[in-house]
Amino acid sequence: MRVGVVIPAAGVGRRMGGCRKPFLALRGEPLIQHSLRSFLTHPSVTALRVALSPEDASDCPAWLRDLDPRLAVVAGGDNRADSVRAALEALPDVDVVLVHDAARPLVTRAIIDRCIGAVGTGIGAVAGWPASDTLKEVDDDLRVLATPDRSRIWHAQTPQAFPAELLRHAYAAWDGREATDDGVLVEMAGGTVVMVEGSAINLKVTRPEDIAVAEAFLDMYEPARSVRGV
Ligand code: CTP
Ligand code: MG
Repeated sequence: MRVGVVIPAAGVGRRMGGCRKPFLALRGEPLIQHSLRSFLTHPSVTALRVALSPEDASDCPAWLRDLDPRLAVVAGGDNRADSVRAALEALPDVDVVLVHDAARPLVTRAIIDRCIGAVGTGIGAVAGWPASDTLKEVDDDLRVLATPDRSRIWHAQTPQAFPAELLRHAYAAWDGREATDDGVLVEMAGGTVVMVEGSAINLKVTRPEDIAVAEAFLDMYEPARSVRGV
């Protein structure tokens, strides 16, 4: 099975105070390098496309450009789905596409394999984690409207895996409305999406306080490995 990987990395990092999160140093290495590692070492991965902001794509750091012959950089768009679509269009022919946020440096081989293992004809697989807090739906004044049944609620993470044809079809049918993951586009296009076990530590580095948490998890779970071999 040929697996292609799409890495949206073109965001502006507004909640991080307006910084290019993929190039934030995390234990001395750019965040995106941690996020790429488990994909680059996966034997089924035949191609990777990284969507960077147009400025970064035209002035791509040499270490990223030269990281691996299977990897190429493309210019992303104004929102995440635009960036994924640009990378998807640049991806060669593959059987399965994995989409993974550059901002999740703690993805593991085991999570990737669970996603790939659950993909089937017309079926996508989204890594996630069951909600552990009680959930409240509120109105604009924060008045509680409902307490949804937590046992049926999962947080969606990435990677998200899809048969290539299903994902390409979903993006062709996308109406341009903001979407925060890829599964929702596949759901809207009539595909089936199943949740698979991600991990409690597969966090998305979103706010400044997440950096220390991610570094602590990296210390605990990532032996000092580098895809650059340094
Ligand atoms: N992303 C992207 N293109 C965009 C917006 C987001 O490729 N136009 C990517 C981000 O780089 C990130 C992933 O989508 O790897 C998840 O997005 P998020 O965590 O929201 O990152 P940002 O959009 O950069 O952050 P913020 O929403 O705080 O501005
Ligand atoms: Mg965003």
